[in-house]
Amino acid sequence: MYKLIDGKAHSAAIRGEIAQRVNTYKQTYGSEVGLAVVLVGNDSASQVYVRNKIKGCEEVGIKSFAYYLPEESTQEQVEELVEGLVENDAIHGILVQLPLPKHLNAEKILKLIPERKDVDGFCEENIGNLCMNRKCLVACTPNGVMKMLEREGIDLKGKNAVVIGRSNIVGKPMAMLLLNADATVTVCHSKTRNLKEICSTADVLVAAIGRAKFVTADMVKDGAVVIDVGMNRDENGKLCGDVDFENVKDKCSYITPVPGGVGPMTITMLLYNTITAAERSRTVG
Ligand code: GUN
Repeated sequence: MYKLIDGKAHSAAIRGEIAQRVNTYKQTYGSEVGLAVVLVGNDSASQVYVRNKIKGCEEVGIKSFAYYLPEESTQEQVEELVEGLVENDAIHGILVQLPLPKHLNAEKILKLIPERKDVDGFCEENIGNLCMNRKCLVACTPNGVMKMLEREGIDLKGKNAVVIGRSNIVGKPMAMLLLNADATVTVCHSKTRNLKEICSTADVLVAAIGRAKFVTADMVKDGAVVIDVGMNRDENGKLCGDVDFENVKDKCSYITPVPGGVGPMTITMLLYNTITAAERSRTVG
């Protein structure tokens, strides 16, 4: 019998802890914890994400600063806004929602965000520190997965962990976190040979591919922990993950549902990174 990992319940518990830290920060320093969220253009999925990020801030007492720029904004306009946020001491974290409109140079914009305010954990310093297993701000989705595993009491030491997907935002930092937790890690991707055989060796299988129901029962070892980072629509337009949940679940010891698994954890970890960045702004430098 498998256990469902309830991302909403874990999220609620962690948000409670974050709210306490935010409260302590306010009492100690007499000022707010601030997160700036920048959305350029009209991407509908991004609008939903940004709305949920702002709602999350309200829930834990973080002051959000939302900036909605029109689709046709120029590189200079976006850069000028971000540069102002970098200088603003009321803002501890800066998040530029991706994807940006195609005419903008996203890399150049993200490069303006300093390590200390990089609550997405995307910058080179944070990625480098993660690779060196040093304290840093970690990308929200993979860090959310680690928190869930930890809170479920799932020991990773010496376990075979397989990550499917090698994006800079999820797959790569996920692999690094699992490695830092002493798992033996394999990263698979679109060019991988013998994908099924490799996945079948996984004690912990993380699916971050972006294809509906890609992971089927024949790819999963009996008793595996299966983490589904996917967020897709199936043939009927219903929200579904990268894992064929109905057919895979009975082989698992633990599995995350979609929705209600990894998803809620991502925003929670953004709030976690924001209070962490605020606390560090008072204790470092
Ligand atoms: N778009 C999709 N996921 C993310 C994320 O984690 N951070 C940002 N900034 N944009 C995203």
